[in-house]
Amino acid sequence: MRKAGTQRQSSFSPRAAWLAVYRLAYQRLLRPILFRSAPEQAHERMIRLLALLDRLPLAPSLLSALRHLSAADHPVTVAGVSLPAPILLAAGFVKGQGFASEAEALAAVASGVNIIPGWKSMPRLVGALEMGSFTRWPRLGNTGRVMWRDPATRSSQNRIGLKNPGARAAARFLGQRRRDLPPVFGINIAVSPGVDDVEQERREVLEAVRFFLDEGLRPAWFTLNISCPNTEDDPGAHQTESRARLLCSAVTAILGQIPLWVKLSPNLDVEQYCRLLAVFQETGVRAVIATNTLPAPAPGDSGLTAGLAGGGLRGDALRVVRCLAEEKQRQRYDVEIIGCGGVESGETFHDMIDAGAQAVQYWTGLIYRGPLLAALIQQEAEH
Ligand SMILES: Cc1cc2nc3c(=O)[nH]c(=O)nc-3n(C[C@H](O)[C@H](O)[C@H](O)COP(=O)(O)O)c2cc1C
Repeated sequence: MRKAGTQRQSSFSPRAAWLAVYRLAYQRLLRPILFRSAPEQAHERMIRLLALLDRLPLAPSLLSALRHLSAADHPVTVAGVSLPAPILLAAGFVKGQGFASEAEALAAVASGVNIIPGWKSMPRLVGALEMGSFTRWPRLGNTGRVMWRDPATRSSQNRIGLKNPGARAAARFLGQRRRDLPPVFGINIAVSPGVDDVEQERREVLEAVRFFLDEGLRPAWFTLNISCPNTEDDPGAHQTESRARLLCSAVTAILGQIPLWVKLSPNLDVEQYCRLLAVFQETGVRAVIATNTLPAPAPGDSGLTAGLAGGGLRGDALRVVRCLAEEKQRQRYDVEIIGCGGVESGETFHDMIDAGAQAVQYWTGLIYRGPLLAALIQQEAEH
């Protein structure tokens, strides 16, 4: 990536030529086709395509080749993890199907159903990513309209509601496919929505993490998502000092050498971010992901709340990264910061890094710039 004082490199190379073709093809051809469908349908179609790619024997090698054609690795170590590049696909894309019960989800795993579409193909295509969120128990997610896009601000909104197969089935599924898992991936565990009892919350998070460890899985990191806005919960209630201390100390104690990252909301007050950062430092959390989506009225239905992401979130996410980075520097903490919110270009990547992030995550940018977004960001960031 760009370093201060680095000369601008010549932009002609086979890689640059290929990315120029890809950029044009996605913008002029694929995106208009995708945008003819409602966001949910376009997303479902992508997920079905990924499930197909997961099955095709040659797909992983072809997708890896495509990734290597599009971007060279740019290895960095962030928050205890050696990453091929400081640009990761955020949680919520490779997250699995929803189920009504654990028995149903486990039966699907036993009968060979691909309950986490993209688990094999997506990491080959995009590099490092975070799978999940997974909750202790499966969830069907919300019904009705759950996704929106706003091309004018390059934003998305969703109220998917933590649809997922549950941690036990997800762990069993991935455990059975251990040999085909990518070298670097994270597992995102969300606190159980609707659970007020602090002790039950702690127990369920620990059970969820243990399912993965007991299946012999050793992800490069775990993320604890205490900030999902799209459930019946008030995410702010989970992001208190005392709850964070209880959860983080319990999880780091069972993770051993595996780093723990924590994902926060974009709408806490400055003092709260400072208090939480102190707790993360104290409990051995290695990174904060700043941020999750911002609760906002759903377009056309102000009675519903849907998490805002992309361009509409960028300003808030940047403010949080800056606030955390200043506090980290003031207190000489070593918790690292992963910027997430509206990163979709070299410029927005540098904005996050300049604000104090050590790496970034993205989701909504995929909608507007397609699956090779990380390669585009990397190329633009280098020039
Ligand atoms: C459709 C959708 C589903 C998401 N699901 C999850 C999730 O399950 N867990 C999570 O931690 N974040 C989830 N997110 C939040 C993203 O990981 C990310 O924090 C947020 O979208 C901001 O990044 P962006 O502006 O690049 O989209 C989801 C986002 C979207 C758009």
